[in-house]
Amino acid sequence: MSLAPVDNSLVGKTIAVDLYTENGILLLPQETILTSAHVQLLQKQRIREVEVRQVLSEGTGEHITSQLLELDADEETIAAYVQALDKTRSVFDQVSQSGASHLEKFSEIFSEVAEQSMKQLGLFRSLYVLEGADSYTYRHSLNVGILCSLIARLMKWSEDRIAFMGTAGFLHDLGKMRVPKEILLKPGKLTDEEFAEMQKHTVYGYQMIMEMEGGSELLAQCALMHHERLDGTGYPQKRIGNEIPVECQVLAVADMFDAICSDRVYKERTSPFEAAQLLWKEACGGKLNIEIVSQFVRYIALLYVGARARLSNGEEVEVILIHPDEPMRPLVRRSSEFLDLRYERQLTIEKMIG
Ligand SMILES: [Fe+2]
Repeated sequence: MSLAPVDNSLVGKTIAVDLYTENGILLLPQETILTSAHVQLLQKQRIREVEVRQVLSEGTGEHITSQLLELDADEETIAAYVQALDKTRSVFDQVSQSGASHLEKFSEIFSEVAEQSMKQLGLFRSLYVLEGADSYTYRHSLNVGILCSLIARLMKWSEDRIAFMGTAGFLHDLGKMRVPKEILLKPGKLTDEEFAEMQKHTVYGYQMIMEMEGGSELLAQCALMHHERLDGTGYPQKRIGNEIPVECQVLAVADMFDAICSDRVYKERTSPFEAAQLLWKEACGGKLNIEIVSQFVRYIALLYVGARARLSNGEEVEVILIHPDEPMRPLVRRSSEFLDLRYERQLTIEKMIG
């Protein structure tokens, strides 16, 4: 833990203690990973120094932090991401043409891109600006790998488990390589038979990973059960609660989040903030693990401090403070007055606009 000045060198570091305004309002909770928007917020509040710790392991920390400083230079991040996407495409295509592969090949590619992807952990808004429906499965695999390792990190899991979740996310939809292309890429609604075939990607994925050299039962289960839901409404086995390993529950959250953000059916793009609200609803409805969702949602919500939002009554406001216990109902500023959405239950955030 160390005291650091409030400037851009803070980006990518974790706050070691809860931070309050002069009036005692919680500004940013402990464990917040700082973005440039947070730094601006602290500067606005005239906070000069904060207690921080490095979020990443020693050695890579400085390097990644200096990359995080380039948060605004999105072009570079996007170029790295597109390169990673190309590699993903080629290794997935290889599997679909010549069958099983060695697990190490996937882990290698993912860990290679993971470092680049670390930049995107604070960059959901640029992660979700890329277009291209044909690359959906590859992009989705890459994104879910990144999100799974992020969630594992937020859950304070061990480095081994974080790496495992990255690979599990990267491979969760591998079975789609065995689903006929005309079903996989069909633009409209699937027929019942087509949907049944599509659902088999979970079982295919399980088989493919088990056939791989180095593939483990748990890794294969992650592919098998990422569409299971805690209330038994998922597929393919309609498992309930603890019958679904917690790793698969993390995958379900990451998968749903990316699917909502990248939705190709509804042309209007859903922002990560809105996707987080939908996850919260699913968790409250008993489908997703609420502890996992609350950690993740809190993280996403914090990325939107300082962003502009449109409320359900059409008014435009600025997000000022995120409450840790109700991240989807922040304190917002409407011209010169503040509005606490925790107490204005009739209002919701309809859309993030910048
Ligand atoms: Fe899937």
